[in-house]
Amino acid sequence: MHVLVIGGAGYIGSHVVKALLDQKATVTVFDNLSTGQEINLFPEASFIKGDILDKEALLQALRKNVDAVILLAGKKAVGESMDNPALYAQNNISGMLNVLNAMLETHVNNLVFSSSAAVYGTPQYLPIDEKHPLDPMSFYGFTKLETERFLKWYHTLKGLNFMALRYFNAVGYDETGAVKGLEQNPQNLLPIIMEVACGKRESLNIFGNDYDTPDGTCIRDYIHVTDLADAHVKAIQHLMDGKESLSLNLGTEKGLSVLEMVKETQKVIQKPIAYQFAPRRAGDPAVVTASAAQAKAVLGWSATHSSLDNIIASTWAVYRKTV
Ligand code: UD1
Repeated sequence: MHVLVIGGAGYIGSHVVKALLDQKATVTVFDNLSTGQEINLFPEASFIKGDILDKEALLQALRKNVDAVILLAGKKAVGESMDNPALYAQNNISGMLNVLNAMLETHVNNLVFSSSAAVYGTPQYLPIDEKHPLDPMSFYGFTKLETERFLKWYHTLKGLNFMALRYFNAVGYDETGAVKGLEQNPQNLLPIIMEVACGKRESLNIFGNDYDTPDGTCIRDYIHVTDLADAHVKAIQHLMDGKESLSLNLGTEKGLSVLEMVKETQKVIQKPIAYQFAPRRAGDPAVVTASAAQAKAVLGWSATHSSLDNIIASTWAVYRKTV
């Protein structure tokens, strides 16, 4: 089985590539290295430096007997998407359409797409299952939802089979140390905590301590990236077996507050994390947790690497080397 991993040099992509290689798949990574990094490339996988805005490069890559595509490339910062929607429209919509159209032209019919819990918007009930209303609060979430809509139409009209995987909060690093790249200018909670621990940042701003939660800080569902990667492998197998196209949540079904993450990190890495409370960040819901029942039923998948200790220890193992 030959899988083309578009965005395979990124944080999630490199973990997906590792999981595929562990299953003895043939892998080609296609990445423009804008946020992906050379250090995340595996010698066992082929590499094409290319951009999803370059359809000719996509066509060339797809013509190499590819059985399935995993599309992870895209912009992913919620705040930036609100300031610069054009950038997100270009990368996440135009780029995505190039991938879909190139797949149609080359008759590659299986696609796993990297979607997000951001498609749901403010939770109407918890945990969020796949029947929850879809009403993104950010332009980023809108681009993910639009892609899912294109996938449904292309499936109906042209037989493109897909799995859209709606990640909740991706965290952690490969436990064997196989992935080494650190995200540059991270916007997400755990990498920021790690940068404080390394002395790269002075302190963490905790956005809001007056939410309706036990300690007043926001609660999220943090899922280990190795669990996400395993779900991609299972999703590819599902499509190769000719099974149903659909969207699935990937989460742990457990909530953790920002303050709990900070305190637990201090305990696991035995270092103080300086923080202060800051005003709420626009668009942050108080609590987001997933129902992953459907992923379990459809893929036989559940999170097995996502204990808090493992999430923190595996992340610190990579960050501590930079101290
Ligand atoms: C959001 C999206 C998610 C997307 C991710 C990508 C939603 C519901 N979720 O997750 O789909 O994949 O962004 O970036 O839209 N926090 C602080 N201080 C910080 C940073 C974060 O207190 O410096 C808090 C946030 O307020 C939030 C939690 O930590 O409560 C997690 O934040 P973050 O890591 O940015 O992820 P989400 O916004 O939950």
